[in-house]
Amino acid sequence: MTRIVCVASGKGGVGKTTVVSNVATALTELDQNVVVIDSNMHTSNLGLHLGIPLYPITLQDVLKGKAKIKDALYHHPNGFRVVPADISLAKRMTVKPKQLMSVIYKLIGDADFILIDAMAGLGQEAMSAIEVADEMITVTNPELPALTDAFKLNKVADEVETHNLGVVVNRIKNEAYEFSIDGVKEFLNLPILGLVHEDKNVRKSIGNKEPVVTYKPGSKASREFRAIAETLIAGEYKKPKYSVGQRMLGWIK
Ligand SMILES: Nc1ncnc2c1ncn2[C@@H]1O[C@H](COP(=O)(O)OP(=O)(O)OP(=O)(O)O)[C@@H](O)[C@H]1O
Ligand SMILES: [Mg+2]
Repeated sequence: MTRIVCVASGKGGVGKTTVVSNVATALTELDQNVVVIDSNMHTSNLGLHLGIPLYPITLQDVLKGKAKIKDALYHHPNGFRVVPADISLAKRMTVKPKQLMSVIYKLIGDADFILIDAMAGLGQEAMSAIEVADEMITVTNPELPALTDAFKLNKVADEVETHNLGVVVNRIKNEAYEFSIDGVKEFLNLPILGLVHEDKNVRKSIGNKEPVVTYKPGSKASREFRAIAETLIAGEYKKPKYSVGQRMLGWIK
């Protein structure tokens, strides 16, 4: 069974791509077969985090019918596969849920996890990624603007009935101005899936174009990303309300 999990946030820059690259690495270490998809087709940067900024064939080519999904599927040295988005301005596009599903369904059965790196916000692109997923992870920082945007995102996600697994609170600095973890839980009324502290190794690893889980395996952030992967695997899988076929045929709305 393939679990399609979207990693989303209301506010930009809170750590979605960092969560995707590191949780994919940690899941792979736990013998899971993982595909990551960059669904952010305006400001894509999953390839930059992974050290492969320029891919010859990308998700845009597949969506435009110019290439097959197998041609846009790349093997990362960390053991998972990547469907990248093109970083060029010329290839930016907005994708509808059905278009995205028509690509993703071809990977179903071929992976344990498909992790989708979503665009921030509540716009069409973010919602397409959330709508095609069975499950979602909300990434936030423990600060009011990020939490307010996460709350709004979760309300919109409820409407498309994607199962919200919980919150990853990233960049915790234990400063007085931050929300406590209980405060985050109460604010969003969601379970906490994981906590990731501010760790300079994360920024160093991105500079080194590698997930921190392999760049500095013993770092605090690496241990925290591995714990998220373990929680994901251990969590009880809730069958989606709509099958892939129903979503493809647009019956979701
Ligand atoms: N735990 C952490 N500790 C230190 N720095 C971090 C941590 N997580 C993320 N960062 C920093 O925050 C930056 C933004 O992270 P990332 O690109 O993952 O956010 P994003 O939510 O994907 O952004 P966007 O909305 O633009 O797609 C990273 O480049 C990194 O420098
Ligand atoms: Mg990102």
